[in-house]
Amino acid sequence: MTVNDFSFTSNFWNVWIIVLTLGNILACWWLIRWTSKHKEGEAASGDTTGHSWDETLAEYNNPLPRWWLWLFYITMIFGLVYLVLYPGLGSFRGVLDWTHQKAYAKEMEAAEERYGPLFAKFAAQPVAQLANDPDALKIGQRLFVNYCASCHGSDAGGGPGFPDLSDNDWLWGGSPEAIKTSILDGRTGAMPAWGAVLGDKGVEEATAYVLALSGRDADETLVAAGKTHYDTYCAACHGADGTGNNALGAPNLTDDNWLYGGSPGVIRQTIAQGRTGRMPSHREFLGEDKAHLLATYIYSLSN
Ligand code: HEC
Ligand code: HEC
Repeated sequence: MTVNDFSFTSNFWNVWIIVLTLGNILACWWLIRWTSKHKEGEAASGDTTGHSWDETLAEYNNPLPRWWLWLFYITMIFGLVYLVLYPGLGSFRGVLDWTHQKAYAKEMEAAEERYGPLFAKFAAQPVAQLANDPDALKIGQRLFVNYCASCHGSDAGGGPGFPDLSDNDWLWGGSPEAIKTSILDGRTGAMPAWGAVLGDKGVEEATAYVLALSGRDADETLVAAGKTHYDTYCAACHGADGTGNNALGAPNLTDDNWLYGGSPGVIRQTIAQGRTGRMPSHREFLGEDKAHLLATYIYSLSN
């Protein structure tokens, strides 16, 4: 025996399923014909069968009502017609050649036909102007809840590692174009790990300096040593003054708005081990027009 003998692609199982399916329907047909025929030696129609319950409740030997019988026949005919039109009889695909994939593609096409012109109308207007259009914002919000809320939260407030999109603090820029690029092409923020370069003590000092940058108390000597590390290793990305760089997705370290968290422990971990935040590209999946409405919605949250 080969592996194929056990698989549903071999012809044995194909024939087996066809015989079982058709055989069952035929057997039902036969059963109904057989039971609806009057047979000799049994009580005639209209007589009682001799069984009774609760003393007076007698069972009559009447045939099934016509309409009831017809329902049986109609169900069987429906089943046969269905099996001719749609897949069901073994590997026979049905004369309509229906598949889930085709049905889905057709639905998507119909939706595109229906909503495409609407999206295109919105896409022709600049984001800043569209942000005053309540209809556009409503659609944008719905798209957001469907496609983005799993990472950014249903109110766009974000969470550790997932940026808040409702404030005016941006990793990659808050202009309509920058937001749209983030959505269409995705973003990858790469913060290198510095543990090996700085050592434990150096990481501690850099942490103190980052805390001081955002206006919090930290040991002065640690901060002074941290500044040297910062100027050497960090300023290239986070800026000499610590306000970040939208071109690299490097966060502003001078505010109290944190992507990963602002406790000394989390900052120490970020510096020692690095971070890689990934925003997936949505160009293939959503297309330009939907991204335009999403960018409008996000832009409206902070403007
Ligand atoms: C190559 C550019 C680059 C360099 C150099 C760099 N960083 Fe970063 N840093 C980033 C990026 C990009 C992120 C955001 C990571 C993400 O989006 O996942 C980040 C994130 C951070 C965060 C987290 C901020 C938050 O909001 O949670 C801290 C803290 C930080 N960096 C400190 C430092 C320190 C201290 C140094 C120097 C020792 C340094 N970085 C060097 C690019 C850099
Ligand atoms: C799988 C999780 C995930 C999904 C889904 C996702 N995002 Fe993101 N997004 C991220 C992460 C992580 C970042 C931050 C990338 C980084 O660290 O630089 C980000 C960044 C962004 C930014 C840039 C923010 C800034 O401060 O510059 C925008 C805008 C954005 N996402 C919008 C969206 C929209 C709109 C959707 C829905 C179509 C979406 N995201 C879906 C994870 C996700």
